Amino acid sequence: MPAASLEQLASLCKRRGFIFPSSDIYGGLQGVFDYGPLGVELKNNIINAWWRTNVYARDDMEGLDAAILMNKLVWKYSGHEETFNDPLVDCKSCKGRWRADHIKGKCPACGSSDLTEARPFNMMFKTAIGPVADSDSFAYLRPETAQGIFANFGNVLSTTSRKLPFGIAQVGKAFRNEINPRNFLFRVREFEQMEIEFFVMPGSDEAWHDRWLEDRLSWWESIGVPRSKIQVYDVPKGDLAHYSKRTYDLMYDYPTLGYEEIEGIASRSDYDLGSHSRDQDNLGLAAKVAPNRDSVAKLTYYDQANNRHVVPFVIEPSAGVGRCFLAVLSEAYDEQMVKTPASDKVEAVQAALDTFRKSVSRTEKISAEQRDAITAQADAIGSDLGNRLPEIEQLLSMPGADGIEVGKKLRGVAQPVVDEFYRTVLHLKPHLAPIKVAFFPLKRNHDGLVSMAKGLRSDLQLNANMRTIYDDTGAIGKLYRRQDEIGTPFCVTVDFQSLEDHTVTIRDRDSMQQERILASELEQYVREKSR
Ligand code: GAP
Repeated sequence: MPAASLEQLASLCKRRGFIFPSSDIYGGLQGVFDYGPLGVELKNNIINAWWRTNVYARDDMEGLDAAILMNKLVWKYSGHEETFNDPLVDCKSCKGRWRADHIKGKCPACGSSDLTEARPFNMMFKTAIGPVADSDSFAYLRPETAQGIFANFGNVLSTTSRKLPFGIAQVGKAFRNEINPRNFLFRVREFEQMEIEFFVMPGSDEAWHDRWLEDRLSWWESIGVPRSKIQVYDVPKGDLAHYSKRTYDLMYDYPTLGYEEIEGIASRSDYDLGSHSRDQDNLGLAAKVAPNRDSVAKLTYYDQANNRHVVPFVIEPSAGVGRCFLAVLSEAYDEQMVKTPASDKVEAVQAALDTFRKSVSRTEKISAEQRDAITAQADAIGSDLGNRLPEIEQLLSMPGADGIEVGKKLRGVAQPVVDEFYRTVLHLKPHLAPIKVAFFPLKRNHDGLVSMAKGLRSDLQLNANMRTIYDDTGAIGKLYRRQDEIGTPFCVTVDFQSLEDHTVTIRDRDSMQQERILASELEQYVREKSR
């Protein structure tokens, strides 16, 4: 069962240290987030999985890590200065500012339709280079990593002697001054992209475009985002980005949002290499480009077979790490009943839920919309309470719900039942899980058990390069739940038998089954089960 809402994921991310709002000690910064101890592990694992498939598992790819700051001429000739705009409108009543295509002619803050005409707003962030900030000393923070690849095309070609077709892969930060960042990690102002520019002979671009579409869908499947949850959107001509000949947007079915872009696979023709080249008139370019009198390079490829220089066409699969992170978490998310709760416990929760619902319908403290949303959700949960009992926590986090006094009573009755009979579990693919193995001693005040558990933990982390954790801060059942919630695929318990025969019990997150194995075989066991 994937996550029911973005709020559910955001709450887990905050509670367990995946994601924090940036600089929240000063009230935060809109559209900017930090990855916490578990978040950075999951994010790195996603990036490594992408790099492994797209660079190591292929023989036609090079890697690159270009700087974020580039000569501003890059952004002039790439077309971003002129066209990287979103339509901005102001609300004349409340002075709110909005992206015109995200609102339906009405200010989302005050409901007024008295809006200004939409005007273009360039989304590139500027910064000053050097000690004097004047009109010439600025540079942009890159809004896409792609241009670092195009600018280095000649360098990579001459240092690697690659033949077409080949690609350059890069992962790095991008910055966009989004008018309304929103929906948690989905639309932010600072994010990471995983981009490939794949250079092909003109004429072979359509076939490569379709091949990349298939390759990318397989990759999403391999990290737990199934094809059935992705729609391929063939972007209509009028909506294409300025560089695109054709684009397939992969639209993932996000909780709360529905189908939204997770990756774009653009066919960029010879637009970029042509735009950044000198002597454009002699290159036979297919794309319409602005004249370039500043570049010192011809970004061409020598086609030996036909003794001619060509400007390669480009296929560009480009995915956002944060949007991927959200999709992976959403697919992995599950709330399961582990034991059937006794009927009197469910009845007590049902009674508290009914009281809460009645109180919501009578209250004047919240808006009618909030009232309707909360009662609808309470009804939905109540109609299948046995299975949906853990959702009461989200119900109590809905806007307006914290003002309902009896909510506290409901939480007090529901929480112990949730703790005893349900678990939240992330069924993450083991290669993505932030923690691979958690180690527990059966007794926390027993030196022998503690030192064996700690020793095994650090051995695995250092020698097998797997992130591991030691925990002795609760009963074993509670420790399992804690690891389930962050997706740890294996938990190892060191008990008295371990001290005698050097075996341990290892528990599988998904099946909850335990096995006893030799401690010396742990690494091999985990590797085999993680395939
Ligand atoms: N080089 C092509 C390019 O940048 P894009 O469709 O603008 O194309 C590619 O961006 C991907 O980057 C998107 O599919 C999305 O996953 C991610 N992305 C774009 N803007 C974003 C934002 N404001 N916040 C989070 N991710 C974003």
